[in-house]
Amino acid sequence: MSTLSSQVSTILDVEKIRQDFPVLKQTIHGKPLVYLDSAATAQKPLAVIDAIRKFHEVDCANIHRGVHELSQRSTAAYEETRARTKKFINSKSRNELIFVRGATEGINLVASSWGRKNVKAGDEIIVSALEHHSNIVPWQMLCEEKDAKLRVIPMNERGELILEEYEKLLNPRTRMVAFTHVSNALGTITPAREIIEMAHRAGALALVDGAQAAPHLKVDVQALDADFYAFSGHKVFGPTGIGILYGKTKLLNAMPPYQGGGDMIRTVTFEKTTYNDLPYKFEAGTPNIAGGIGMGAALDYVTKIGLEKIAAYEHELLLYGTEALQRIPGLKIIGTAQEKAAALSFVMEGIHPHDIGTVLDRQGIAVRTGHHCAQPVMDWFHVPATTRASLAFYNTAAEIDALAAGLGKVRELFA
Ligand SMILES: Cc1ncc(COP(=O)(O)O)c(C=O)c1O
Repeated sequence: MSTLSSQVSTILDVEKIRQDFPVLKQTIHGKPLVYLDSAATAQKPLAVIDAIRKFHEVDCANIHRGVHELSQRSTAAYEETRARTKKFINSKSRNELIFVRGATEGINLVASSWGRKNVKAGDEIIVSALEHHSNIVPWQMLCEEKDAKLRVIPMNERGELILEEYEKLLNPRTRMVAFTHVSNALGTITPAREIIEMAHRAGALALVDGAQAAPHLKVDVQALDADFYAFSGHKVFGPTGIGILYGKTKLLNAMPPYQGGGDMIRTVTFEKTTYNDLPYKFEAGTPNIAGGIGMGAALDYVTKIGLEKIAAYEHELLLYGTEALQRIPGLKIIGTAQEKAAALSFVMEGIHPHDIGTVLDRQGIAVRTGHHCAQPVMDWFHVPATTRASLAFYNTAAEIDALAAGLGKVRELFA
């Protein structure tokens, strides 16, 4: 048996936390649900479900538009999320926080608005070998449009970025370095502060894809000195369809609007439109109000538990899970970075990940199988797909044991 550090139970009261997540109380195919797919989307605590329900039941109105009581209440609740996000990622001002649909839209906003204005033929954009498709394709599209060049920071066999090679890629034509804070496919935590510092030294900007970092690490955009930072509400235990793009005020002010419509304008005539101030300049149309309010409840919930405690607990669980999986014959963990968060990606000799996922599902265990929207990562490791068990603070050592036992069954069936 693997051992979980004896102090782990003093870090978090996980059994109590689990009571906050109704979805975890069910059985799947007659077995207790073991949810190990939080990197795809995290489960929602009652605080989030209740906040969304309260909005629809009691406060429902459009925001920023009405003088009536309901509109004032819903505006206040929605804007309160911006205030919570300011604390959550330590931005200087709430005006630097743009509500978007998620990390994907945040990155597209920057590639589209900043990119179209600032990137010219012959310029270079750097991404990393670890990226999710959402931090590759928008830059590729921009490079195609502008005749710019996309360059890639390579990684080593552990799934760590090679900074010496990155240094060689930087040059006076580099405009942007866009990279992930935590890899969704491998769990690698990148040295974000160092990567940003190197980009700045070369005169480039840096965008951080924080989709997988925000649920697991304490993020401080000022300490990182990130120019842009994007994350999704649904991965931080909030609802889908909402997220945040952080950008430095000076940069956001200099960028043209991303979309046109209501709320993003100050005056409109057929001859000319003038735009609203930050952050509204980038928020056209009626937003996902319920989602924004739900995300505020999620950030509050996570903040109350404490991201330092969450990181410490998940680290113990990750070590426990790594040990447990390493003992399974024929199983190989893909992604063994020194600095790693909450994801166990693996392959099993002679067994397709989809078969692994299907057999585990029959035992109530939810894992992700496939390329995890990171096909270049799969190509690098010469695998078509992996099985990924991703962890959150509501997971337990007993669930890791269930996964290990489930993989034992997979071997019996297929090996
Ligand atoms: C690292 C990373 N970046 C970006 C995204 C895209 O997030 P969303 O689909 O919520 O926009 C994901 C989603 O899995 C991710 O893991």
